[in-house]
Amino acid sequence: MLDFLKSTVGRKYIMGLTGLVWMGFVLAHMAGNMLILFSTDAFNAYGHAIVSNKPLLFVAETVLLLTLIVHVTTAISLTIENRAAKKSRYAVQPTGVKSTSWASRNMGFQGSLILCFIILHLITFKYGAHYETTVNGVVMRDLAKLMFEVFTQPGYVIWYVVCLILLMFHLSHGVHSVFQSFGFLERKMQAGLKTFAWIYALIVVGGFLSQPLYVFFIHQ
Ligand code: HEM
Repeated sequence: MLDFLKSTVGRKYIMGLTGLVWMGFVLAHMAGNMLILFSTDAFNAYGHAIVSNKPLLFVAETVLLLTLIVHVTTAISLTIENRAAKKSRYAVQPTGVKSTSWASRNMGFQGSLILCFIILHLITFKYGAHYETTVNGVVMRDLAKLMFEVFTQPGYVIWYVVCLILLMFHLSHGVHSVFQSFGFLERKMQAGLKTFAWIYALIVVGGFLSQPLYVFFIHQ
């Protein structure tokens, strides 16, 4: 078992499984955040409900942290091996039918930037300014106020738009490869799966994009 997990195929499975956890998280995170477009009270109450459920929060944060660490370290080990193998095998990059998409060739670059994004994102929001508000008599953190403060600054909006577009490529290729590593990819399913991967990525990123853009262009 350990030998399998250390093999290239095993590590691709690990990338896929840990990626799947984050795929579920970003979809849920995006959907919850959409409340900001409709009601600041509902958005704050939703955030408060999550942080108030301490056992659930602990489990969710631990799983997210561990899967992120495993995803990133496995990616680094696969990339190092891949580079070493490629150097000795190919003198020329394939073009035409055999060439790969920009998204798939730059997973490492996208991933590194997304990792920076996640760290800065946590500093901005999770560990950012702690404003308070009262919703239905309950005192809670005013995350909506922080979000309005952050996304009225053009620099933040541009940074979020750039990172979210990269996330879209990363997710679209990631979703496709998860099913590929799990062997779901019979020839006739390939086109459908690519479409599914892009629809998923567009929904997640389109939803996320709407939040800073709404605050910047409509709310302020
Ligand atoms: C427009 C886009 C986004 C907005 C407005 C947003 C907003 C927020 C806010 C307000 C929090 C703080 C929640 C709290 O402390 O109660 C948060 C936490 C977090 N966000 Fe985002 N987010 C966005 C995109 C993303 C993306 C793309 C990722 C991952 C790739 C992400 C990952 C996280 C993580 C991991 C947490 C911490 C969760 C926890 O430990 O409780 N966010 N986000």
